Amino acid sequence: MTVVAVVGAQWGDEGKGKIIDFLSEQAQCVARYQGGPNAGHTVVTGDEQFVLHSIPSGIVHPGKRCLVGHGVVIDPQALLAEIEHLESREIRVEGRLTISPGAHLIIPYHRLLDQASEKHLGGGKLGTTGRGIGPAYTDKAARVGVRLGDLLAPDRLREKVRMNLQEKNLLLRELYGQTELSLEEILQEYCVYRDRLAPFIEDTTLLLWEAIDRGDHILVEGAQGTMLDVDLGTYPFVTSSNAAIGGACTGLGIPPKVITTVIGVVKAYATRVGEGPFPTELTGKEGDVLRERGMEYGATTGRPRRCGWFDAVVARYAVRVNGLRFLAVTKLDVLDEAAQISVCVGYRWQGKEYREITSEIPSLADCEPVYVERRGWRESTLGVTSYEALPIEARNYVEFISSEVGVPVGIISTGPRRDQTIVLQNAFSPPP
Ligand code: IMP
Repeated sequence: MTVVAVVGAQWGDEGKGKIIDFLSEQAQCVARYQGGPNAGHTVVTGDEQFVLHSIPSGIVHPGKRCLVGHGVVIDPQALLAEIEHLESREIRVEGRLTISPGAHLIIPYHRLLDQASEKHLGGGKLGTTGRGIGPAYTDKAARVGVRLGDLLAPDRLREKVRMNLQEKNLLLRELYGQTELSLEEILQEYCVYRDRLAPFIEDTTLLLWEAIDRGDHILVEGAQGTMLDVDLGTYPFVTSSNAAIGGACTGLGIPPKVITTVIGVVKAYATRVGEGPFPTELTGKEGDVLRERGMEYGATTGRPRRCGWFDAVVARYAVRVNGLRFLAVTKLDVLDEAAQISVCVGYRWQGKEYREITSEIPSLADCEPVYVERRGWRESTLGVTSYEALPIEARNYVEFISSEVGVPVGIISTGPRRDQTIVLQNAFSPPP
C-alpha cells in the first residue's frame, strides 16, 4: 500500500492537475480532501483539455476510482455540470465517482453572501473566486452547515435550510440590500440535485480504509496551495480550508502514518490570484511576459494571475509544514526565453535577513526579497523528457532551486501534456 499526497507548495495554480493526472496511471484510487469549485485543475491528454473543479483529476484516466472526501464543499449545480460535461466527452463518471455524505453543501445564499461581502469590503476585499466557499465553511465551523447526506433526508434538509435562511435573508436584506431567497425554491432545486446525485453518495472514508487494507496505491489530491491554507497561509488572504497536508487527514479520515509520500508542486516561477502579499511579484513588463508566456489566467474565474519570481522562502516553508519528500517543478519551459532569472532566497525586513517565514514578520507584504540571479538558457525545453537533454543552465536552475529549498526535484513538467514530463523519482516507490 502506498499513499502519495500531492499538495500545492505556493499560492495554488501550481499545475497540480497535470501532476495528479500523470501519477494517476500508477494509482487505483484518487481522493480529493478539501476546497470546492474554487479549484480549477487543468488536465491535457493528447489534443484534449479538461478543467476539473470538484472531481479529482484522476477521473480522466479510465478505470480509476475517484473519491471526494467530507472535507470538500460541494456545489451540486456546478458538480452536475462537471459530470455532464465529462460524460458528454466520453469520460465515464457514474460508478467511478463517490462523494462523502459528510461533504458540506454550497447553497445559493453562500454564493450571494460571498459576492456581497467582497463588494462590501471594497478596497479591503480578499479577491475570492465568488463560489461561496468561505460562507459554506463558515457554516460548517458554526455547526449549522447542510451536508450532502442531508439531501437524502428531506425533512432534515428542510429544517436546516429553513433555520439558516432566516439568518441569511436578514443579512442579504439588511446588510447587503439584496432580495431575499425563497425556501421553497431552494428546496425544489435541491430535490432535483438529490435525485441526480444519490447514486454517487457513499462513505468515502470506509472505501479508503478498505483500499488501504487491500494494499492499493492511492493518490491524495490537494487543491489551492500551502500559502492559501486557512491556518498556515497568508491569513486573511487565504481560502477557508486546510490546503496543506493536515487537511488530507481531516478531510478524508485517514491517519498521518498511512501517508507514504507528500509531493509539493511548484511552478518554476510564482503566481497568485486574488489579493494578499506576494513578495516576488513583478508588476511591470517582466510580469506581463510571464503571464503571456505561461497563459496565467485563472482556470475557474479567468482572472489574470499576478506573476513573479520563484520564492524559495515560500517553498522551504511548504517543505517544513507538509514534510515534502520532493518537488514537482512545472512550467519550466515558460522561462525558456528569459536571459536572466531571479530566485528569492530570503527576505529583508527592518534591516534583518530571514530565510524562514516567521511570525516575527507581521506581513509578507512588508518584506523585500533577497534575490540571487541565475543565467537563463534561451532555448526551448518544451516537451523535453530526459533530464540530460535539458540545457545546462536549466539543469543548474533546477539544482539551485533544490539546494535552496532543501529537497530534491523529483518531477519536472516541460509542457501541459502527460508525455511532456521528466521523472527523476518514482513517487510510488518507498521513500529513501
Ligand atoms: P475563495 O477560496 O474563493 O474563498 O478565495 C480565497 C482566496 O483563495 C482568493 O485569493 C482566491 O483567488 C484564492 N483561490 C481559491 N481557490 C484557488 C485556486 O484554486 N487557485 C488559486 N487561488 C485560489
